[in-house]
Amino acid sequence: MTRKAWGGRFQGEAIEWVDAFNASIHFDQVLIEKDIAGSIAHATMLAAKEIITDDEKQQIIDGLSAILDDYDEGRLEFSVQHEDIHMNVEHALIEKIGDVGGKLHTARSRNDQIATDMHLYVKEKAYEIIESIETLQETILELAEDNIHCIMPGYTHLQRAQPVLFSHHIMAYFWMLKRDKDRFNDALSRIDMSPLGAGAISGTTFDIDREHTQELLGFSDIYQNSMDAVSDRDYIIETLANISLVMVHLSRLSEEIIFWMSEEANFVQLSDQFTTGSSMMPQKKNPDMAELIRGKSARTTGALTSMLMLVKGLPLTYNKDLQEDKEGVFDAVTTVKGSLRIMTGMLDTMTINEDVLEKTVQNDFSNATELADYLVQKGVPFRKAHEVVGELVLKCINEGKYLKDLSITEYKNHHDSIEEDIYTVLSPKTVVDRRKSLGGTGTEAVRKQLQVAKDTIKK
Ligand code: ARG
Repeated sequence: MTRKAWGGRFQGEAIEWVDAFNASIHFDQVLIEKDIAGSIAHATMLAAKEIITDDEKQQIIDGLSAILDDYDEGRLEFSVQHEDIHMNVEHALIEKIGDVGGKLHTARSRNDQIATDMHLYVKEKAYEIIESIETLQETILELAEDNIHCIMPGYTHLQRAQPVLFSHHIMAYFWMLKRDKDRFNDALSRIDMSPLGAGAISGTTFDIDREHTQELLGFSDIYQNSMDAVSDRDYIIETLANISLVMVHLSRLSEEIIFWMSEEANFVQLSDQFTTGSSMMPQKKNPDMAELIRGKSARTTGALTSMLMLVKGLPLTYNKDLQEDKEGVFDAVTTVKGSLRIMTGMLDTMTINEDVLEKTVQNDFSNATELADYLVQKGVPFRKAHEVVGELVLKCINEGKYLKDLSITEYKNHHDSIEEDIYTVLSPKTVVDRRKSLGGTGTEAVRKQLQVAKDTIKK
């Protein structure tokens, strides 16, 4: 029977399946590097403040480094009896260096320890996610530049609305991702904070130096209230919200790709590497990766909701409920990083069916607004122009043609200010390029947009 680190007060034998329920070691072991970094900083500070000797500090640090090597080489054994990563490491340390290992936990609690580990973890992952977002943004920029001449239908209500440049459409996602990145950067000021030294709840009687450990761990700020320090999980909630929003953006883009790739639209082709076949229907090429990203966005939103519910009714300070804060965020981090990577690869290898797009925009009514604007420029009030064009569209639908197919006499029968130049005016290229307004889809405006976009990722 292994004695618990907190065994002194207890007499009853532990029950293994209760220990298993209580334990977090099966998931919090991913924090081992952070946990050891926090412990090394803590021991260094304890020695600097002469709470432990330099020799004890050295033994502790050497022991902890050896434990990390053991872990890296698969030699470290964990046990549910030692509950979590903190006590498993402490147990291994005492086994390795003897009783002096027991001095490490002086002036510290698992409550400030786990908070420190999680701050270090979330900070590292936030930077990694920011980097993955940037890689995807670069891919989108490239795609937009390479296909600047491609015109596609722009939709509202999933009905063709007005033709737009493919580049303009895809760049909308660049800007969503920029806001996502900004949100992660903003959250960093609240993530990058040291709770270490808060103790279990109220600080400690030892003459510790919290700023020393803050500095050693590279935190740019420090919690001013020990009770807040051990019970704050806002930074995890914020991170999950930021991740959820990235996933929602990726899910929207996935949905578009799935539609573009459908036989009905046939606007793009995904590469073989990013699609799958059907076990039964030999003709199939399915956009599984895009569908999975769309599906996985449900998980991250679920993690956010769980985390909000977790803290909703919690009194200060630490409650064991908080052990449940980890799996959701670990999973969300893996999910968002994986999805960003897949989306990057998918877009990087996607080809645009230019001829299909060309045919599509030639054969629809997405130039109808243009005809109305044309009449307005000739002095016709917009309401009247709208009505005239509506009648022309109806006539075309009844006769199975498009606006470009109407003869000039037919036009003149509806409004005599329509001239020969109407055919150029109605061509998708003209329709697009005349939208020169800032942020509009005209080629010139999009080129400017691309330049501004590039400047946002240049550091
Ligand atoms: N495994 C615990 C967690 O993840 C560490 C903190 C435990 N603290 C305590 N007082 N039981 O939340």
